[in-house]
Amino acid sequence: MNKKIIVTAALPYANGEIHLGHVASTYLPADIFVKFLKLKHYEAFYICATDDYGTPILIRAEQERKKPEDYVAYWNERDYKDFKDLGIDFDFFYKTSSKENEEMAQYFFKELYKKNYIYKKKILQPYCEYDRKFLPDRYVIGTCPYCKAENQYSDGCEKCGKAFEPGEVLDPRCALCGKEPTNRETEHYFFALSRFSYKLEEWLKENQNLQEEVKNYVLNWIKNGLKDWDITRDISWGIPIPLDEAEGKVLYGWFENHLCYISSTLKYLKEKKMDGKTFWNSSIIYHFIGKDIVYHHYLFLPAMRLGMDEEYKLPDYIPTRGHLLLHNQKFSKSRGWYVSLREYLDSFPADYLRFYLASITPYSQTDVNFDWDEFLIKVNNELVANVGNFIYRTLSFIYNRLKGKVPEPKNLDKLDEELVEEMRRVKEEAENRIINNEIEKGLKRILEFSDKCNRYFQQKEPWAREENVANCLFYSINAVKCLSLLLYPYLPFSCRVLWTQLNLKDLIHEGWDRADELSIKAGHEISKPFPLFKKIDKVDIERQKRKLGRIG
Ligand code: 2FM
Ligand code: ZN
Repeated sequence: MNKKIIVTAALPYANGEIHLGHVASTYLPADIFVKFLKLKHYEAFYICATDDYGTPILIRAEQERKKPEDYVAYWNERDYKDFKDLGIDFDFFYKTSSKENEEMAQYFFKELYKKNYIYKKKILQPYCEYDRKFLPDRYVIGTCPYCKAENQYSDGCEKCGKAFEPGEVLDPRCALCGKEPTNRETEHYFFALSRFSYKLEEWLKENQNLQEEVKNYVLNWIKNGLKDWDITRDISWGIPIPLDEAEGKVLYGWFENHLCYISSTLKYLKEKKMDGKTFWNSSIIYHFIGKDIVYHHYLFLPAMRLGMDEEYKLPDYIPTRGHLLLHNQKFSKSRGWYVSLREYLDSFPADYLRFYLASITPYSQTDVNFDWDEFLIKVNNELVANVGNFIYRTLSFIYNRLKGKVPEPKNLDKLDEELVEEMRRVKEEAENRIINNEIEKGLKRILEFSDKCNRYFQQKEPWAREENVANCLFYSINAVKCLSLLLYPYLPFSCRVLWTQLNLKDLIHEGWDRADELSIKAGHEISKPFPLFKKIDKVDIERQKRKLGRIG
């Protein structure tokens, strides 16, 4: 089995806070998956970067009177820190505005151009005579042609949700000065996506790893006809199109951002003195995304790699998950219906969010709902009352009643045997689920195990039946260790603390496969335990709920 794995997560735009929606669909499932692979001792790397270019970012930087370079550098650092504090451990976090990505994107452009997969076409573009610039995408605002909402960007309406072409918006105005733009002719480069219809269809049909439901609607898009993509922007903030004749033009963000998966991996592996290209082409590749960018990842990205004769191999998996709703409504920053990752981290432990989101997010396009009350219930009833309870009662019994020393077991009885067997089974069954990307099912299975452990302890009654103390505590402490490994991908902070309470070193080297070994021997001394999890107070939840809907 191939144990080389590259995992990427969709690159966040460098223009605002990471919010819980991004975390649930993309960064957390990918992180749990990679942590699991590392426990399995795979050679797995988790790569991400900020998506730095594009008109929205340039506009925001201009509004804040910052140089775009400084603006994106701030968000790059900020995102990385927010992720880190949630326990999202990228092996490498880079940026699309890197030199390496520029080189990679220009190389792709030149090659695809040589092969005639990129062609030129004259088009009319809105132009502001006053600002003396072309006005791509969000530089034009106007009235929605469908619902007549005012102040909408020219590529779609936030009110009614319709997407449209820049020429369709009513009463167009320049986003910078408010004057009406004219139309000017300009030469743009187009990527011939339509020419890849057949190859894409073939690739999609052959690839057995892609989610069927996504595959089916992508195949439908192909059937309805693919449009070529305008990959040119007449702005200064982007990767220059590498042709003399194209001075002043840059590449559209979606031409180059996904190449940053490759360019960042190569850069990282080069630093590790590895041959990145060989590694890329001999790995299993996963691109984790949210369902809003399916088109780009199932069509545009593979078409570009196909156009390069697979010089860099195509993804094997594109795990795609749905949106996160907040109390059944869409996240919306402008309406204050929003919880940023930083805001969360300022109020509750990182592992509680990891636990809650991992337990509600399936491996599908279905939208999931973040609900503060449900968050409390899950944490208090499952994490605290199930997992936390078993761990703490085991450790505190050993610490208080057995002077911290693990007892010597005697002959196994039926209950002991069942627990040992259950350790073996949970390891196997949780693994099968996680490897299939069914992260939430893996967690559910581990919680069932923890529940059984509680019942085991309850049935053995070591507090009342002296003859049961030795076996109960010996097998329980080994079950705690087993849990600490299986739960590590989900709850990395708590499991690390647990390892110190168990007086064990970092258990990563011991790994997933040895989770069910009875490796804590009689006589082993544990450290003073304290509860890993604490019940959430209703007052703190009410405070969060009151914040919703407030702006600013
Ligand atoms: O939709 C987004 O947020 C984009 N920044 C994702 C880019 S992923 C990529 F680079 F392919
Ligand atoms: Zn203007």
